[in-house]
Amino acid sequence: MTTTERLAVELAARMPAGWADVISAVDRARFVPARVWVYDENNEPQPLDRDVDPRRWWRVVYSDTAIMTQFDDGATVWPDTTGEHPTSSASQPSLMLDMLAALDVREGHRVLEIGTGTGYHAALLATRLGDDAVTSIEIDATVAQQARANLAATGHTPTVVTGDGAAGYPGGAPYDRVVATASVRPGELPYPWVTQVRPGGVIVTPWGPDYHNGVLARLVVAGDGTASGRLSGNLAFMRLRAQQDTLCPLDDGETGDAWETTTSLWVYEVVGEFSGALAVGLLVPRCHKIVEDDPDDAYHHLVRVHDPVTGSWATVDVHRGAAAYPVRQHGPRRLWDEIEHAHAWWVTHDRPTYTRLGVTVTDTEQWTWLDHPDQRVATTWTGNSDQ
Ligand SMILES: C[S@@+](CC[C@H](N)C(=O)[O-])C[C@H]1O[C@@H](n2cnc3c(N)ncnc32)[C@H](O)[C@@H]1O
Repeated sequence: MTTTERLAVELAARMPAGWADVISAVDRARFVPARVWVYDENNEPQPLDRDVDPRRWWRVVYSDTAIMTQFDDGATVWPDTTGEHPTSSASQPSLMLDMLAALDVREGHRVLEIGTGTGYHAALLATRLGDDAVTSIEIDATVAQQARANLAATGHTPTVVTGDGAAGYPGGAPYDRVVATASVRPGELPYPWVTQVRPGGVIVTPWGPDYHNGVLARLVVAGDGTASGRLSGNLAFMRLRAQQDTLCPLDDGETGDAWETTTSLWVYEVVGEFSGALAVGLLVPRCHKIVEDDPDDAYHHLVRVHDPVTGSWATVDVHRGAAAYPVRQHGPRRLWDEIEHAHAWWVTHDRPTYTRLGVTVTDTEQWTWLDHPDQRVATTWTGNSDQ
């Protein structure tokens, strides 16, 4: 068995119909740089050099692992591990397969990919559909250039454009499919993706609020300039470049004056429960969360939430078993109060699972809904015409 076939076997459980031969035919190693970062079990990036540790490098390349190739738009240079944001990668193969399954390409389809990265995903699409059927757009000129070189060296010639994929690529429109490999925030799906897909075509993108790990949105474009569809999956992706947040320095922020109360909420439901946390994220926009475990006490966790736009923050000191937990809130937003309010919405609606949620995008607004586009969940975001 070749190494690429081994990757196909490892991914067999998640393999959508029609992709196993493609995975076996495209060698991921040809797209991964010699020097990369890989996350360790504590979710910390660790440098990995093919020339220093070849066994580990090859094992990682042919496994279901995301491999970071750039931090902070290139400002953090390998092997520095202090970067704030990963900004380019070879995506985790099983997540790519989930996206390809949702994309549901057919022979003759023309696809626009947003975020070329290493070029591996574009090579898979080009192998399946033909080079002429695939256009991929990458915002980072250095990354785009390397992707072009990787693709050419492996015999693929899809169109790779250097540019901002938030504007789509009208030169190749209309497309049957748009697939983004960088995530968008609720309310911020670029409307050009809708106008550049033919009616009946599909947009697949990682999607989610700052509070949550992330899901996949699959929207079908209608003939009236709208797109609508449900959420699925569980996948964290780096943000589309213009949607990256500068994280506020939590340690400094939390030393400020605070409004002190207590909560008896079952905190797990708004922090760890996938659907509960997503509902909170939709109703409490621009709110990041971190949960710190106490190494000396398995029943003790500090929940920290913050809004980098207003500088608001809140902490909840959770001692499992206690009747109530201390809450501290600071800034113009009372974030914990917002979270409790959002949780009440979720409970009132019988704790709906996230796959009952969907998204609609029009030329003037975007919203999330429960079961049907008429049943709006959350904030309606406007301003598409400015994008
Ligand atoms: C997760 S990586 C893509 C990985 C790719 N699927 C692979 O396996 O190699 C996301 C890429 O999206 C690019 N990107 C982010 N924002 C973009 C934008 N507005 N337009 C085009 N590309 C963008 C990043 O520079 C990055 O290379």
